Amino acid sequence: MQKRTLLKTAAAVAMLATGSVALAQSAPFKIGLILPMTGQQATTGRQIEAAARLWIAQNGDTVAGRKVQLIVKDDTSVPDVTRRVAQELIVNEKVDVLAGFGITPSALAVAPMATQSKTPLVVMAAATSSITEASPYVVRTSFTLPQAAVAMADWAPKNGIKTVVTLVTDYGPGLDAEKFFKSRFEFNGGKVPETLRVPLRNPDFAPFLQKVRDIKPDALFVFVPSGAGAAVMKQFGERGMDKAGIKLIGTGDVTDDDQLNDMGDVALGVVTSHHYSAYHPSPANKKFVAEFQKANKGLRPNFMAVGGYDGMRVIYEALKKTGGKGGGDALLAGMKGQIFESPRGPVFIDAQTRDVVHNIYLRKVEKKDGQLHNVEFDVLKDVKDPGKTK
Ligand code: PHB
Repeated sequence: MQKRTLLKTAAAVAMLATGSVALAQSAPFKIGLILPMTGQQATTGRQIEAAARLWIAQNGDTVAGRKVQLIVKDDTSVPDVTRRVAQELIVNEKVDVLAGFGITPSALAVAPMATQSKTPLVVMAAATSSITEASPYVVRTSFTLPQAAVAMADWAPKNGIKTVVTLVTDYGPGLDAEKFFKSRFEFNGGKVPETLRVPLRNPDFAPFLQKVRDIKPDALFVFVPSGAGAAVMKQFGERGMDKAGIKLIGTGDVTDDDQLNDMGDVALGVVTSHHYSAYHPSPANKKFVAEFQKANKGLRPNFMAVGGYDGMRVIYEALKKTGGKGGGDALLAGMKGQIFESPRGPVFIDAQTRDVVHNIYLRKVEKKDGQLHNVEFDVLKDVKDPGKTK
């Protein structure tokens, strides 16, 4: 009698267990997308959210039989808020993947939590080289500043630019841009008489630009994060720097496609190095831009949007590889080594570094069909992050 009850109980437990496995299978796959939706970096949030939603609209919300749920949270680009929001997403929502991260300090704030909870963290925006080394669960689909800065340091001296003052935002990506531009440019025989740094919060470029005018280098090399480029360009023009014979060069963040068309003629002729231009002439990009604009009242996608779009692809493909099961380590394994055609061109997620390998283009701002665009005129193929030590 007792034995029979035991058997019955065992059978019931087994049934329950199988049931719960089936339930877990059918539970949605949750992507916690943490973005700056308000505050100084809000354009980054708007671009990445729009790109993620476009990816889902184009590819469906079911992957290998598993429903995908996107949970968007605003971190206002304040790292303490990023940390709190990530904690909620991991503990309460039990998200399968964390993604987004508009600025470097936000990504770094959450990296230890990704390690501890074994949650893949897909960096779609932040671009300081060292972020991928902050946790073995970080995978990046944005870019790195050293990739872009080194390309410019090679181009400039071959094009009559012998002295350069650098002006960067004073935090991770700016310091990477300054360091990698300066050392490579000097190695190439160039001179850097001054390196200037402006604060991330509420920067006033005027006194720095005045200093550059006084030094009168051949060019000013600029890195400012997405969203701040228009202010630099405006003040550069107002001070007549271009008329004084000082060229503006930089990484493509300064001629950000989100703002470029409203910058006015002062932007014409500005040469930058970057991984993405909305004007990139491939069929894949033309389709991406057309569908993005159609879904977003004509908004032009920028490099942040592409980081978000490709990040969604990396997550979808990894989930497919696990047959819809997911699991932190299995997803991470599925993300490493992916190769695909992005709107930016060919992309490879290096399995060793978990960082993005892609083309870096040299581009010049030109007017095309009445609009300002970053028009590509040269390419460095399959550029790995030069900032990686191993
Ligand atoms: C960053 O904080 O890592 C960052 C933000 C905006 C950029 C580039 C890098 O345009």
